Amino acid sequence: MPIEPASEATLNRAAALIRGGAVVAFPTETVYGLGANALDATAVARIFEIKARPTFDPLIVHVLDEAMLERVVERIPARAHRLIEAFWPGPLTLVLPKSAAVPDIVTSGLPTVAVRMPAHPVARTLLERAGVPLAAPSANRFGALSPTRAEHVARSLGEAVDLIVDGGPTEHGLESTILLLEPRPTLLRPGAVAIEAIEAITGPVAREVDDATRPLAPGRLPQHYAPLTPIRVVRDLASVPPAERSGAALLAFTATVPGYAASRVLSPSGDLREAAAHLFESLHELDALALARIDVEAVAETGIGIAIMDRLTRASAR
Ligand code: TXA
Ligand code: MG
Repeated sequence: MPIEPASEATLNRAAALIRGGAVVAFPTETVYGLGANALDATAVARIFEIKARPTFDPLIVHVLDEAMLERVVERIPARAHRLIEAFWPGPLTLVLPKSAAVPDIVTSGLPTVAVRMPAHPVARTLLERAGVPLAAPSANRFGALSPTRAEHVARSLGEAVDLIVDGGPTEHGLESTILLLEPRPTLLRPGAVAIEAIEAITGPVAREVDDATRPLAPGRLPQHYAPLTPIRVVRDLASVPPAERSGAALLAFTATVPGYAASRVLSPSGDLREAAAHLFESLHELDALALARIDVEAVAETGIGIAIMDRLTRASAR
C-alpha cells in the first residue's frame, strides 16, 4: 500500500506528484481527501476514475488562502466575507461563482464552484508546496463510507492512488458543511460546522433547495455514505428484542446494551462532537466484522447531531 507518514520528504514528493498531474490522498480536519490540481482537467478526470464517481457529481476545491481563492472564483458575494472570517480555515464549504480557470469537469458544468480553506496542517503544507488549488472529494469509492484514517483510504481505493499521505485520524470525522450563498443562503449538506453557528451570522438559512436552483449534490442522494453491512437506526435500544441482537452489531451513543455480537460507544459523556468524530471510524470497524446488521442509536438532532443523523439516514437507506 502506498501509505507514507506525513514527513517533510513525503510532503515534498506529494507536492511534486500533484504538480505533475498525479492524484494524492491526504488528511483534512474533516475526512481524507483524494486530491489533484484543480486547474488540470486531465488530473481531475483521474479522481472520477479512481472513485468510480459519476461526472455529474462536482468536486470541492481546497485553497490555501484568499489569493488562491481569487483564482477559482469570479467574485466573492458580500455575505461570504463574514462567513470566511468566522469559519476559515475550517470545515465550511461555500458554493461561489466560478472563475474561467476552473475546468468544467471540476464543477460538472455548473457555473458555481464549491470551495473551502482547510485547517489541517498537512493539507495546508501540501497546498502551499504544490502551489495550486486542490480538487478533492472524500477519498473513498463513490457512495461508500468516508475515510477518517489513511488505512480506510487504502482499503477503499488501494493501489489506484499514487500516494496516501498519513496524518493520523481526522479531527471532526465528518465532512464539511456545504452552504449555497445565492440567491439565498441554503444548506446543501449538514456537516462539521453546526448550522446554528452559521445562522448566527447570516440569519435564517433555508434547509431545502428550491427545485429551480437545485444543484446536483449526490451527498444528498437518499442512499450514500453506506457501509456494506445493512444499517438500522434505532431510537430506543431497550425496544430491540434479544433475538435481533445476537448476530448483529451495535453502535450506541453513550452506553452499550447486552446481547449484541459486538458493540462500540460513540461518546460515554454524551458529547455530540466526540460522537461525530468517531462515527465513520466505528462504522468502518463494525462493518469489517461482516455481521448481519449494524443497529445505530439515534442522537438528538441539534448542532452537529443534525449532520450525524443526516449521514445515518442515508447510510441506512437501501
Ligand atoms: O469535508 C469535506 O468536505 C471533504 C474533504 C475532503 O474536504 N470533501 C468532501 O467532498 O466531502 P465530496 O466530494 O465527497 O462531497 C462534495 C459534495 C458533493 O455532494 C457535491 O455534489 C457537492 O459537494 N458540490 C460540489 N460542488 C458543488 C456545486 N458547485 N454546487 C453544489 N454542490 C456541490
Ligand atoms: Mg464523499
